[in-house]
Amino acid sequence: MINKKLSAIYKDLPFSTRMYVPIRQMLLDFERMVEQVPENVNKIQELGCGYGLASFLMAQSRPNTTIESYDIAKNRIDLLGKINPYKNLKFYAKNVIDINTFDADVIIMTDLLHHLTYIEQRMLLNHIRKTAKDDVFIIVKDMDRGKHSFRQAVNYTIDIVHAKGLTFFYHTQDSFQKLFEECGFRITKQSHLNRSYIPLNHIVFCLERM
Ligand SMILES: C[S@@+](CC[C@H](N)C(=O)[O-])C[C@H]1O[C@@H](n2cnc3c(N)ncnc32)[C@H](O)[C@@H]1O
Repeated sequence: MINKKLSAIYKDLPFSTRMYVPIRQMLLDFERMVEQVPENVNKIQELGCGYGLASFLMAQSRPNTTIESYDIAKNRIDLLGKINPYKNLKFYAKNVIDINTFDADVIIMTDLLHHLTYIEQRMLLNHIRKTAKDDVFIIVKDMDRGKHSFRQAVNYTIDIVHAKGLTFFYHTQDSFQKLFEECGFRITKQSHLNRSYIPLNHIVFCLERM
């Protein structure tokens, strides 16, 4: 469950970050999520990469793919730049709203959308639709607010501790579908990625342009 090769990349970072990486892997099955990313593509853009777990896994399993990963937190990106062992992966400190062009074959965002306001979510998705390739493949992993009030309470608590804020912009499975369709994307696949012993409600969507 804990990918030791992945955790080893962080071995020289402060204790709190080294602890965060296995905890994050317990909370979310990154390997199962990354399996949804097509293998033979030229370029992937990851939006809101955080400490880069998905980026490192993709760089490792797809050595011929160029990966550009973005996060607004400059301190995280600076750390990742220092420890990144992969030549095909580059990290950028940038607000995803300010990215000019989405020119990748695959765009992936993991628990980013609920950190953007509802208006920003639409701005981002609309800008992707306007600038991305016709056949762009998008993976959105987020939290399903659903009817699972206990699971959502756990998620909210983790978000408050982790993001040190109180305001998040969650969706239900249905309101995600409405958002995607209104921004010009259709869902080709959706599934929950829950670990049976962790009370969180992860949902993954694969999207294509309508
Ligand atoms: C819950 S974390 C998820 C990180 C990572 N994707 C993961 O799954 O471990 C959300 C990340 O989104 C980043 N973020 C929030 N708003 C952003 C924005 N407007 N532009 C870029 N990154 C943003 C935060 O800095 C944070 O690292």
